[in-house]
Amino acid sequence: MARDTWFETVAIAQQRAKKRLPKSAYSALLAGSEKGLTVSDNVEAFGELGFAPHVIGALEKRDLATTVMGQDISLPVVISPTGVQAVHPDGEVAVARAAAARGTAIGLSSFASKPVEEVVAANPKTFFQIYWLGDRAAIAARADRAKAAGAVGLIVTTDWSFSHGRDWGSPKIPEKMDLRTMVTMSPEALTRPRWFLEWAKTLRPPALSVPNQAIRGEGAPPFFEAYGQWMGTPPPTWEDIAWLREYWGGPFMLKGVMRVDDAKRAVDAGVSAISVSNHGGNNIDGTPAAIRALPAVAEAVGDQIEVLLDGGIRRGSDVVKALALGARAVMIGRAYLWGLGAAGQAGVENVLDIMYGGIDSVLRGLGKASVHDLTPEDVLVPDGFTRTLGVPPSSH
Ligand SMILES: Cc1cc2nc3c(=O)[nH]c(=O)nc-3n(C[C@H](O)[C@H](O)[C@H](O)COP(=O)(O)O)c2cc1C
Repeated sequence: MARDTWFETVAIAQQRAKKRLPKSAYSALLAGSEKGLTVSDNVEAFGELGFAPHVIGALEKRDLATTVMGQDISLPVVISPTGVQAVHPDGEVAVARAAAARGTAIGLSSFASKPVEEVVAANPKTFFQIYWLGDRAAIAARADRAKAAGAVGLIVTTDWSFSHGRDWGSPKIPEKMDLRTMVTMSPEALTRPRWFLEWAKTLRPPALSVPNQAIRGEGAPPFFEAYGQWMGTPPPTWEDIAWLREYWGGPFMLKGVMRVDDAKRAVDAGVSAISVSNHGGNNIDGTPAAIRALPAVAEAVGDQIEVLLDGGIRRGSDVVKALALGARAVMIGRAYLWGLGAAGQAGVENVLDIMYGGIDSVLRGLGKASVHDLTPEDVLVPDGFTRTLGVPPSSH
């Protein structure tokens, strides 16, 4: 990557994205809900965990490779699905290319801006993510389309409670991008000339539509139309999850599990993986950081299914902390979105390199040969750090 666009940490990628993107696009990436307690805790909780490095004993080479849902990946970091618009004209295709270049998998949101066919073509290690939207027939049709496109796993995300208010205000996202909207929004766009030029080159404004909500061959519905349908869909039951798992038939993740009782029910429903996650703090504010809930969930089901974690990962050392506390791998959200906003595909590659380098240096300091050798003893966990959710208090 050109020296002037390279960044050394995710925090710098965030600053660059803030400078480069229009205000509404940048604040859509910040996301979060209500007071932002969970968004903050997701990040800050990692700062409460520590390491005790050796002075001698580092190994010459470290192995970061692992597998997630049957896919070989060269580092234990997967792209988490995010439904965002207008960050970069290449959107999730750029993200998929970056993940492929760095040997890892991508979760593609059903609210993403690029069709699953294009994303799989850029990275065959694509897991398609579904929200519970529409009846079983509609959900099955979207899963069929993803499978026909070559998606190698399904992620079902159910932890969304339609909490919309934010103390710092929500971005103004237009219903659609017509001429009137473009004129109204042009002052915002014109203060971001590099972003504006990137889109101008494509001769098309951001579409603000969700192509993966369409059955194959149909036009992509506008974002807010799909969102409205989602709000109107009755929430799924455990039977629905078991049905979709059976219908899909391949690797299947339930994303957003925070409680031990839910993790056990997910095992009963036949899932192959869960992600301990609070939707990056976009669900109910006040939910503890995902990393605080991880140890109890991993302890309960980690020997039966793959347990991943997402929420608050900003550096390689965070990944090591999550692995030591029982995650097989992590997924990242905002970190790569900021990379995408800062420098497109190269920015996402840069973020994955930051993760790789950070994991590698912690393994070196701890004298570990591989990510598979990490155990809870490798991190310093202060008293009262963990939260065991979904277990009666008497049995903690
Ligand atoms: C802007 C934004 C959009 C998101 N959209 C989706 C989505 O469409 N589907 C989904 O499963 N999760 C979605 N998520 C949640 C992420 O997949 C992931 O759980 C979260 O970003 C992890 O936290 P982090 O951003 O601190 O890494 C979104 C998150 C953000 C920040």
